Amino acid sequence: MTSFERIEQGGHELVVLGADPKVGYRGIIAIHNTTLGPAAGGTRFWRYETEAEALEDVLRLSRGMTCKNAMAGLPLGGGKSVIWDQGGDRREVLKAHARRIQELGGRYVTAEDVGTTLADLDIMREVTPHVLGSSSGLGDSAPYTARGVFRAIEAAAEHRWGDASLAGRTVVIQGTGGVGGNLARLLAAAGAYLILADTQPARAENLAAELGGRAIDPRAVYDTTADIFAPCALGGVLNDDSIPKLNVEIIAGGANNQLLEPRHAGMIADRGILYAPDYVANAGGVISGAVELFGWDTSDLLPRIDAIRQTMTHVLQYADEHRITTAAAADRLAEEKLHG
Ligand code: NAI
Repeated sequence: MTSFERIEQGGHELVVLGADPKVGYRGIIAIHNTTLGPAAGGTRFWRYETEAEALEDVLRLSRGMTCKNAMAGLPLGGGKSVIWDQGGDRREVLKAHARRIQELGGRYVTAEDVGTTLADLDIMREVTPHVLGSSSGLGDSAPYTARGVFRAIEAAAEHRWGDASLAGRTVVIQGTGGVGGNLARLLAAAGAYLILADTQPARAENLAAELGGRAIDPRAVYDTTADIFAPCALGGVLNDDSIPKLNVEIIAGGANNQLLEPRHAGMIADRGILYAPDYVANAGGVISGAVELFGWDTSDLLPRIDAIRQTMTHVLQYADEHRITTAAAADRLAEEKLHG
């Protein structure tokens, strides 16, 4: 498929390729849909193997942001950008990327994503104001994302067991970084038993020592029996290999793009597992970004994030009523918000 065909197929409004060989910069900004407002989505800094892989990633991620922002009830469209790491001077590369964002005049607003940090956002902010979550704003989004995931887990628990309480429930968390670590704290406070896995084992071990529960080898995650599996590391973890192994009743976590392919939602449903669609669950970060962007009262922030519980409940009920997967239900409801 050619690049134009890919863009046509995804329904993207605008895709900008940026390059500055003097500093070793190559980046792509994808604006998927601005029906509801300016396109918002983070900047990913990644060492892609090929140009096609970078393009594929940004097209897929920007489309996901349209759905996420719509389902979070935000006046924001969907966008995303990627920097294809060429080993150039990081500061200059970030500034080159920020110049492209600035040229779009606010039609795209960026934030943190995999491979970018708060310090990176501060550098971009020197060039453009169209940056959310820099240290001059609300800061790290991970605690907000974790809070939303916790609410999504409550919704799933209530739907599955008729009781939102997580006391005594066992939750296996894959990835105990910003989102997974904060989620672990919330779950521990709610009385859940934690099984923690991280490819940097000390992270999971330290957290288990602090909160209780146990750390396991990250390769054992899919074979571990638990009530709930919370993917909080990478995308694509729900696939042909992992799904048959799972011995849980609910999947609800913060990672983006958990399903390797859309068909995997059907495989999960066939196994009798309830899947809480990722982009509904993990919208807490972008909600905090919206509060910053629009200057909303910060006292509204936590109630807006907590509303993820109601949104998730609606998605799960809609899926039951229409006899479709929960992932398809979320997509359909997002589509309705875009097209009325
Ligand atoms: P992070 O980098 O702070 O944490 C990720 C953790 O996962 C790290 O500790 C890493 O060692 C671990 N990890 C990596 N591969 C693993 C594997 N195979 N098994 C077990 N652990 C593994 O990243 P963060 O911010 O916590 O994000 C986690 C996920 O949530 C990502 O998919 C991200 O796209 C998504 N997300 C994050 C948001 C945020 O506000 N930070 C917002 C929405 C989604």
